[in-house]
Amino acid sequence: MVHATSPLLLLLLSLALVAPSLSARKCSLSGKWANDLGSNMTIEDVNENGEFYGTYDTAVADYPQNIKESPLLGFRQNRARKPTFGFTVRWKFSESTTVFVGQCFTDRSGKEVLKTTWLQRFPIENTDDDWKATRASSNFYTRLRTEEE
Ligand SMILES: *[C@@H]1O[C@H](CO)[C@@H](O)[C@H](O)[C@H]1NC(C)=O
Repeated sequence: MVHATSPLLLLLLSLALVAPSLSARKCSLSGKWANDLGSNMTIEDVNENGEFYGTYDTAVADYPQNIKESPLLGFRQNRARKPTFGFTVRWKFSESTTVFVGQCFTDRSGKEVLKTTWLQRFPIENTDDDWKATRASSNFYTRLRTEEE
């Protein structure tokens, strides 16, 4: 039988207490993020109602020379440790609109990733062109580390 004061038992006990609290840390949306295409976004503090705003700097567009930083506005669910969220980007250089849905994940080392899927609606002149008006894809975001951090 293992004695209660055995150092090994104490170590195992403390690991059992510490490991869940690391993985249990709530994933935070606030901050600067970069996706797999090189686009960046900054999300400001999420308020108590789950509302947030931010800015989006896309790396890709049909006319890249026109790209301008654009505002985003969204909601995040409040209770889950891996919260779902959604936001809309109103592009400043295009008449299209994009909506994102996603979920915020934190791994055991504390590294966060946002998994997202988006739809983008382009304006068309008449309903005959409706078939080509919407694009959809998925992207993931990790924290953007800048030199001053
Ligand atoms: C994203 O941020 C990185 C690092 O600051 C920068 O080099 C890059 O140009 C940015 N991309 C866009 C699309 O703004």
